[in-house]
Amino acid sequence: MQETNLLASVLGITLVAILWWYAKRARTSPYKSPGPPALPIIGHLLSIPLHDQAETYQKWGKRYGDVLKLNIVGKTLIVLNSEEAATDLLEKRGQKYSDRPRLASVEVMGWDRHMVWAKYGKEFHMSRKLFQDQLSLKQCEVFQDRQIRQARIMVKNIVKDPTSHRIHMLRFVASVITEVAFGHEISSPEDNYLQFVEKFTEDLGQLASSRTIELLGLFPFLKNIPQWFPGAGFKRHANLLSKEWEFMETYFCEEVQKELKTGNARPSFLANHLETLMHSEKHVNDEDINRLKAAAFLMYLAGNETTWAGLSTFILAMLLRPHVQRKAQDEIDKVVGKRVIPDLSDREALPFVEAVMQETLRWFPPVPLGNSQRIQALSSITHDEGVYHNPDEFYPERYFSQALRPAEPYPKSVWGFGRRICPGRHLAESSLWTAIVHILATVNIRPAKDSMGEDIIPPVQYTTHLTR
Ligand code: HEM
Repeated sequence: MQETNLLASVLGITLVAILWWYAKRARTSPYKSPGPPALPIIGHLLSIPLHDQAETYQKWGKRYGDVLKLNIVGKTLIVLNSEEAATDLLEKRGQKYSDRPRLASVEVMGWDRHMVWAKYGKEFHMSRKLFQDQLSLKQCEVFQDRQIRQARIMVKNIVKDPTSHRIHMLRFVASVITEVAFGHEISSPEDNYLQFVEKFTEDLGQLASSRTIELLGLFPFLKNIPQWFPGAGFKRHANLLSKEWEFMETYFCEEVQKELKTGNARPSFLANHLETLMHSEKHVNDEDINRLKAAAFLMYLAGNETTWAGLSTFILAMLLRPHVQRKAQDEIDKVVGKRVIPDLSDREALPFVEAVMQETLRWFPPVPLGNSQRIQALSSITHDEGVYHNPDEFYPERYFSQALRPAEPYPKSVWGFGRRICPGRHLAESSLWTAIVHILATVNIRPAKDSMGEDIIPPVQYTTHLTR
């Protein structure tokens, strides 16, 4: 309610400014590029939904083409709907287009200094290098034992309590990331690390699902109003989130520093980097430590829901396509036998399991939109009819050549493009693969039954914010 009052008052003040600015801009930059019809002044503002934007871009992409040019109250938004357009702009001309747009909703929390929202420049490169050093394909091998141990715990819990499979999968994902980021093993649902982050995610979700983000997008100057101003509840909320982030990154980092001092630290992203800093000849300053602890915490945030979304899609696909599940299970039985669970050394020998994982990522990409200077509609790209035959169908066989039909490519676009490509992709793929193969090798995924004994087939329905 307070936000609505605020909206009404700022609308009055800004309308005149917008009209003047729009009139000036319209003279110099007419919107002639393909896109849906726009309203005067506000352009496509009301046509772009707050949620499920990826689906809207996909629909428009089919109608208006690969590159959409949208007008949001005079600001141009370019949406790339094909791999070719995204590669051309973000890989071949990456230097120019790798910046993030400035978001008042991020700036209000002071998070624009963190890598994921940072400007494309020196600080971004230094943070990005931290990820590249510790999350390369080779380096991720160090964490395989921990992924396997956590996958075993997950399937044991699923067998004991199948209706809570989503919670067991979430715990698997969170455990792998805390192990990799901080060397910490989550031992129970009451674990400090889990509790802190759950509270933070809940608080963040509240802000993300309110109209505040939309409001700040339209009127960025609102980020500067004081906390006491009527209707400025979002500023207090943002302040709380900012403090929670600071508390957690410091807490996690201090725990690892203590473990390093007592010689109890296990190899992890944070421990390995801190050790390198301690042994380097360079003078270690606060900036180095701050960059490092922010990166470790960011890794936790970026890696959790995304990998979980992938696993949830896998379960849905297996429920809807039982014959695919059987075919993947038969492959596992044939290659390693019925009594053994494959590990990553068997990955190449299990091409159909690989295809199931790739198809899971393609069918519903966990991150449906990439967001640099140009928005990449990743789900439009993985559903491009020019590349994928019947793209809405979950069909892992598409990756093998068949009579009169060449093999289709793995959907590498699900990791984004160019200099902003996901730095956690090797870890994410190996976690996803390990979880999928453990589930396939140990349980059968079947629909629950209703009171009449009939299968309950879930609808294919996603809520889309930043991740699925
Ligand atoms: C299935 C799981 C995952 C998927 C599909 C995924 C996908 C993506 C995509 C598409 C982007 C680019 C977004 C953009 O350009 O706006 C991205 C960025 C990022 N991802 Fe992932 N990701 C996954 C898991 C992970 C994991 C496990 C980590 C950490 C270990 C991670 C860390 C990051 C970070 C830090 C960025 C920001 C990179 C930058 O701004 O330069 N992701 N991810």
